[in-house]
Amino acid sequence: ANKKLLILPGDGIGPEVMRQVRRVIDWMDRKRRVTFDVQEGLVGGIAIDHHGVPLSDETMADAMGVDAVLLGAVGGPKWDNVSFDKRPEAGLLRLRKELGLFANLRPAIVFDALVDASTLKPDIVRGLDLMIVRELTGGVYFGEPRGIEELPDGQRRGVNTQVYTTSEIHRVARVAFELARKRQNKLCSVEKANVMESGLLWRQEVTKLHQAEYADVELTHMYADNCAMQLIKNPKQFDVIVTDNLFGDMLSDEAAMMTGSLGMLPSASLGAPDESGRRRALYEPVHGSAPDIAGRDLANPIATLLSFAMMLRYSFDMNEDADLIEKAVQTVLNGGTRTSDIMAPGMARCSTSVMGDSIVRV
Ligand code: NAI
Ligand code: MG
Repeated sequence: ANKKLLILPGDGIGPEVMRQVRRVIDWMDRKRRVTFDVQEGLVGGIAIDHHGVPLSDETMADAMGVDAVLLGAVGGPKWDNVSFDKRPEAGLLRLRKELGLFANLRPAIVFDALVDASTLKPDIVRGLDLMIVRELTGGVYFGEPRGIEELPDGQRRGVNTQVYTTSEIHRVARVAFELARKRQNKLCSVEKANVMESGLLWRQEVTKLHQAEYADVELTHMYADNCAMQLIKNPKQFDVIVTDNLFGDMLSDEAAMMTGSLGMLPSASLGAPDESGRRRALYEPVHGSAPDIAGRDLANPIATLLSFAMMLRYSFDMNEDADLIEKAVQTVLNGGTRTSDIMAPGMARCSTSVMGDSIVRV
């Protein structure tokens, strides 16, 4: 079957970095005889300008019909003063929600050539390659009841509720166990079972699933506050981390800072498997639309190229091709090619397109 792919470049630097992915896709077509069936669509501010909504029903239907979606970035000052449901971000939220993407994969990889760009000492992060799996659709960001209430004594009370069901825990833990098996076979499950009921349930259910189906994976449990410390102290102790929405939000941002630049960070969001075992999936760089550098051929395309590599790995089982892209990035960085965001003193600055060129040429 053809590999069906929907590309949504979005706003700001989105189209610029996505152009470099298109070049890699062309290269794969010519050199590796892999042909993708690529559709393109609008999301975010540009969709508002054309259709009046940040994601049209037609584009949503396209997203449901493909094997994987690759998104650039959305947003910008032009659309900052519209109501929330009409904002560019609402397009992204709709995609995540309707595709049912409950597992957010955030790798933190330190490339040798960028080890000095890390906020941590080189010895602590050299060779780091960890993966955080964050639960994305449940927990305290969505739990009911929620709201701000007026109390009889004139005070106000803000309420959020952390809720997890067994099935929500199992499905995200399953993604994490399966990832661990393809990596170093180590999983650390992170919660606060000591003070939270949802955390206690999380620990019990992950343990049950481990015993029933994934006993071959080395499983440990860690409290989230300790995990925040351990990430700084000795991040290389981790292979895969699985955690809830709130802790995952923070721990993945913490881990991101070990790798140097926003321009280097890919992500994947996965949903439930269909009859053939393929999961719905959205791949996107962690960074936003960077209006401050948009349109100037300055953006680093690597985060988006690495997101595409994740797509090859997790949606299409094309590990060899994913390796090729990741190795090409490594080679180009080792050769001293740098966009401005990852430039070290004394190095020449290259453009988005030159970075893309160099990577395709490896
Ligand atoms: P941002 O990630 O767009 O930019 C933060 C800083 O990092 C800027 O100085 C930018 O120039 C730099 N940067 C980001 N990506 C880069 C790259 N690939 N190469 C080189 N430098 C890069 O975040 P910011 O400024 O907070 O938000 C800008 C717009 O993007 C806003 O409208 C925001 O709502 C939106 N946004 C969208 C996201 C998405 O589409 N998933 C995520 C975050 C923000
Ligand atoms: Mg965050």
